[in-house]
Amino acid sequence: MNVAVTGTAAAGIDGVTVERLAATLRPEDDAVAALLLDRARSLLAFLRAGASVPLLAAPTGALPADVRQALRARPGLRAGTSNGAAALAALEATRRRLRARLSPGEAGAFDQLVHLGAAPASGLAMIPAPALGLADPAFAAAEPAEPAAPPTGFADLVLIAKLTRHCNLRCTYCTDWREGPGNQMTPATQALMVRRVAEDRSIAAARFIWHGGEPSLIGVRKMLGFLWLQARLRRPGQIFANSIQTNAAALPDRAVALWRLFDFKVSVSLDGPRAIHDRQRRTARGGASFDAVIDGIARLREAGIFAGVLIVVTPEIAAYPIERLVGELVDAGVHAAGFLPVRPDAGTGKGPYLPPAAFSDFLIRLFDLLRTRPDLRFDVREIDALHAAWQRRPTGFCELNGPCLGGYFGIEPDGTVRHCDKFLGSASHALGNLAERSLADIRASAGMAALKQREAERWLRLRSCAWYGHCKGWCPHESHIAALRGETARCCGLAPVFDHFAALATAERLSA
Ligand SMILES: C[S@@+](CC[C@H](N)C(=O)[O-])C[C@H]1O[C@@H](n2cnc3c(N)ncnc32)[C@H](O)[C@@H]1O
Ligand code: SF4
Ligand code: SF4
Repeated sequence: MNVAVTGTAAAGIDGVTVERLAATLRPEDDAVAALLLDRARSLLAFLRAGASVPLLAAPTGALPADVRQALRARPGLRAGTSNGAAALAALEATRRRLRARLSPGEAGAFDQLVHLGAAPASGLAMIPAPALGLADPAFAAAEPAEPAAPPTGFADLVLIAKLTRHCNLRCTYCTDWREGPGNQMTPATQALMVRRVAEDRSIAAARFIWHGGEPSLIGVRKMLGFLWLQARLRRPGQIFANSIQTNAAALPDRAVALWRLFDFKVSVSLDGPRAIHDRQRRTARGGASFDAVIDGIARLREAGIFAGVLIVVTPEIAAYPIERLVGELVDAGVHAAGFLPVRPDAGTGKGPYLPPAAFSDFLIRLFDLLRTRPDLRFDVREIDALHAAWQRRPTGFCELNGPCLGGYFGIEPDGTVRHCDKFLGSASHALGNLAERSLADIRASAGMAALKQREAERWLRLRSCAWYGHCKGWCPHESHIAALRGETARCCGLAPVFDHFAALATAERLSA
C-alpha cells in the first residue's frame, strides 16, 4: 500500500510508502514507532488494496497533542516502555534519528502515519473521504460549521445512536427492530448528529453508543464513514468516544479489527444460560444464537475490547437458581454483566414486564451470592453502582446519578431525538428532529420542560422514602413504566435493596 502525500498543501511530496518507513526502523530502539506504524498500516488496510492514499493535512513538525495524549492514556500503545513519558521520549528519539536520514517529505509522512497509528480518531480526518471509498455527497459537504474554537462548557453528553433498526435476531421481548427501507441512518443524518454536537460549545465530551437494531450490520465502510465524520467535524478540544452494543451473533472480523483500532468498548447481549438465551434470542430464521455469541465474545476479548455482557431479566431468568445462573456465565468465560429488567412498550405499557419489586429481589439474591462467593469473580454493574450509592460515592451509572434529562439522547435513523432510547413508543419523550432543532433548542424546548416538571413532581413524591438520598429517584423510565402499569409508589422500587444493605451493616456492627 502506497502512502503518498501528493498534490496537497502538505508540500507536494510523493512516493513514500509505509513499508519503506517501517523498514528504516530498528526493532530494539524504535519499538514505539514500529507499533504505531503497524497500527497505521492496519487502518490503511481497510482501504482498497494497492490504493495510493493522499493525506490532506500538512505535518506540523511537532507531535500533535492527540498523539501525546494517546501515549499517556493508553498503555497498549507504549510497546513495553514503562510509562507514557518514556514512550514519548522513545518516539521523539526515533523522529530525531529519522530526520537526519529521511527527506523532509518522508519525515512529514512518518509523523502523519504515527498520528494515524496513535490517535486514529483524529488522524482519520487527514484522509480525504474518496480515498476511504466514501462517495455519498454528505462526506464532501462535511466541513466544520464555524471557525475552530474549543468548548466553553463542561457538559457530558451521551448519544444512543440508532444507526440501523435492521436486525439479524428476533428476540422474544424486543420491539426495537424494523424491516425495510428508511430504517438505516444515512451519512447525511450521521453528519447532522455529529454537527449538532460539534456546534454546541457547552459540550466538552460526547459518547456515541452505537445501537440499534443491530449496529454491526451496517458494514465496515459505513462505520469508517461515521468515524471519519466525527474526526472531521469535531470541535478542537471536544472529546468524542465510541462504544457499541451488539448481539455479537455475526460479527465480521474486519469490524472487530476496526473497533480495536479505535479503542471501542463493546458490550454484548447474552441472556444467561444457553437454553434460556436460545429461547429468548433467536435468529431471524428461527435458529439458535448462543454459540455464535460466545464465539463473538471470545474474539472481542482477544482484541482487548470486550466490556461485558447485558442480560435481560425476564421472569424466566429471575426464576432461575441464582448460583446456577452465575456459575453457567462464569463457565462460559463471562465475569462481568449488567442486568436489564425486561420492559414493556413505553407508549402503551403492554408487553413483558418485571416489576421493580421482583427486580430488587433478584438483585438482592445476586448480591448475597457474590458477597459469600468472591471466588466466582463476577462483577455486576447494578450491584457495584448500588453499593457505591449506598456509600454515597459516585456510581458512574445514569440510573443512580440523579437528573438525566438533557444528558442522554436516543437518536433515531431519521434524526428524531428522544430522551433516552428506552422511551421508544412514548410520544411525550420525542423532542424534535435534528434537521429542525439544535441540541440547545431541544434542551430548552417545551417538551423537555414538561418532562422536567414531571420529574420534579416525581421527586417530591419520593422524598418521603428513607433511601431517597441514595437512589436519587432511580431511573425515570422505570417510574414511567410503573405508572403506565397503574403503580404510583412512594418508593422508586429499590428500597428493598437498601433495606437489605442496612440490615447487613447493622448485623456486622453487632457482631464486631
Ligand atoms: C435494543 S438492543 C440493540 C443492540 C443489539 N441489537 C443488542 O441486542 O445488543 C439493546 C439492548 O436492549 C435489550 N432489550 C431489547 N428489548 C428489551 C426489552 N423489552 N426489555 C429490556 N431490554 C431489552 C437487548 O437485549 C439489548 O441488550
Ligand atoms: S438483537 Fe437487539 S435489536 Fe435485535 S431483536 Fe434482539 S434485542 Fe432487539
Ligand atoms: S431514563 Fe433511565 S436508563 Fe435512560 S438515561 Fe435516564 S436513568 Fe438512564
